[in-house]
Amino acid sequence: MSGSLPEEEYAELLRKTGFVDVAVERIRTYRLTDADGRSVFGSLTDDEAKAADGRLGSAIVRAKKPVATPVEGREYELRSATPGDLEGVVGLVEACGLTSKGIASGLGDFAVITLAGVTEIAGCVGLEWGGGAAMIRSLAVRRSARKYGFGERLVRWAIERARSAGVERVVLLTETAPRFFARLGFAAVERSSLPKALLESSSVAPT
Ligand SMILES: CC(C)(COP(=O)(O)OP(=O)(O)OC[C@H]1O[C@@H](n2cnc3c(N)ncnc32)[C@H](O)[C@@H]1OP(=O)(O)O)[C@@H](O)C(=O)NCCC(=O)NCCS
Repeated sequence: MSGSLPEEEYAELLRKTGFVDVAVERIRTYRLTDADGRSVFGSLTDDEAKAADGRLGSAIVRAKKPVATPVEGREYELRSATPGDLEGVVGLVEACGLTSKGIASGLGDFAVITLAGVTEIAGCVGLEWGGGAAMIRSLAVRRSARKYGFGERLVRWAIERARSAGVERVVLLTETAPRFFARLGFAAVERSSLPKALLESSSVAPT
């Protein structure tokens, strides 16, 4: 099946269905008066080909659909982890390629995000303590729940918890998300400047 719409009409339909930043980038314009172009639209008569010459093309259409920000207490809940969350937290952390070492003994310093009506945990984060600093660890958000702000919300929980425990320095080690943390205000430092106790902690020490 095939069909065509004028460019602006197509963009307008996307906008009507909630897309924003609609951009149509032409990548090819068909010359219907030469053999190449005619071979693509073989069923056109000579007159139709002449009329449509230069007016048909291929394009890449880019558009964004803004996501509604989930509301805490309605669509999701962020709460301290309980013993019943252990399996879910370990599973999620491992599924995200992170170590689960030390989670069982440190679960009291973890928070989880759950979505209304969904049993599986959507996200988690933990803290470890040492040398007067707190280290964010095990930040993980289930793939299907990403880009709703849960990662940022969990980091903010960790920072607030560290502050309310009287700790002013919050650090983390990341190989996978340096730009994500930079956006939240973290600055890169030499690994050697981190408290030794944290470098030896279960989540980062080599096995
Ligand atoms: C990093 C992670 C927790 C972010 O979760 P999230 O819920 O999607 O985060 P938010 O919704 O608050 O932020 C999403 C934004 O961060 C960006 N982002 C996510 N992961 C990123 C990464 N690794 N590097 C750079 N930017 C990243 C997204 O592109 C998105 O940007 P946009 O808003 O411009 O589209 C999630 O991608 C994850 O679990 N990753 C695998 C585990 C991991 O790497 N954890 C960190 C280990 S220390």
